[in-house]
Amino acid sequence: MMTVQIRKKIGVLLAGMAAVLAILFVDMPDAHAEYGDVVINNYSDVAGMRPVVFPHWFHRIRFRCKVCHADLGFKFQAGGNEINMVKIIDGQFCGACHNGEIAWSPENCNLCHSGKPGTKTQVHESTIQKLAQPAGAPAKK
Ligand code: HEC
Ligand code: HEC
Ligand code: HEC
Repeated sequence: MMTVQIRKKIGVLLAGMAAVLAILFVDMPDAHAEYGDVVINNYSDVAGMRPVVFPHWFHRIRFRCKVCHADLGFKFQAGGNEINMVKIIDGQFCGACHNGEIAWSPENCNLCHSGKPGTKTQVHESTIQKLAQPAGAPAKK
């Protein structure tokens, strides 16, 4: 028979565990397609530039989802944001960080415009993700 006190202790313990689990799950990557590299090619090909490759996982391990998807307004859709260079240089989208302060500046065209010409807008598997998170390893925070 459990005493009330022990029950209370178990209760507190479980509540603690639930809180830890909640944090883990909120922060835990459902590490599939959403962390793949996103190829963005709404305008690049037409403009004679290579498509943009956005390494999602690389950014994800440095910033929380909220920074980009809430604060900076990136929609959760590959190619779903009308991004162009005027906006970037104006400090929107990628340009909120790629401004020569938080990250290297927009002059480094080839670092973003690195896709194979003709690659359509899409999400594809990230190799960085595999390197950063070997199978079975706990999620990096
Ligand atoms: C540094 C900025 C940044 C961070 C941090 C970030 N994302 Fe993204 N995410 C993007 C960009 C950019 C795209 C592509 C948008 C586009 O193509 O216009 C994207 C696309 C997506 C997509 C759509 C692509 C797909 O798989 O269909 C999902 C879903 C997504 N992000 C989820 C997340 C989640 C969940 C987190 C946090 C765990 C996160 N993102 C963190 C910038 C970010
Ligand atoms: C930080 C990443 C980044 C850098 C650096 C960058 N771009 Fe872009 N650029 C983008 C993104 C994202 C888009 C939207 C891609 C699309 O939808 O095709 C884009 C679109 C474009 C477009 C088509 C839309 C428009 O604005 O006319 C041109 C042209 C372009 N970039 C040229 C350049 C040149 C030239 C440089 C270097 C001086 C450069 N970009 C550097 C991310 C970048
Ligand atoms: C919230 C800030 C933030 C936003 C938004 C952001 N980046 Fe970055 N990005 C970074 C930082 C920080 C680095 C690391 C810079 C360094 O190592 O000096 C980086 C690095 C990169 C790299 C190099 C990855 C590597 O393997 O070295 C690419 C490519 C890149 N960003 C593209 C983009 C594109 C394209 C966008 C917009 C679609 C974007 N970034 C939006 C912060 C951001």
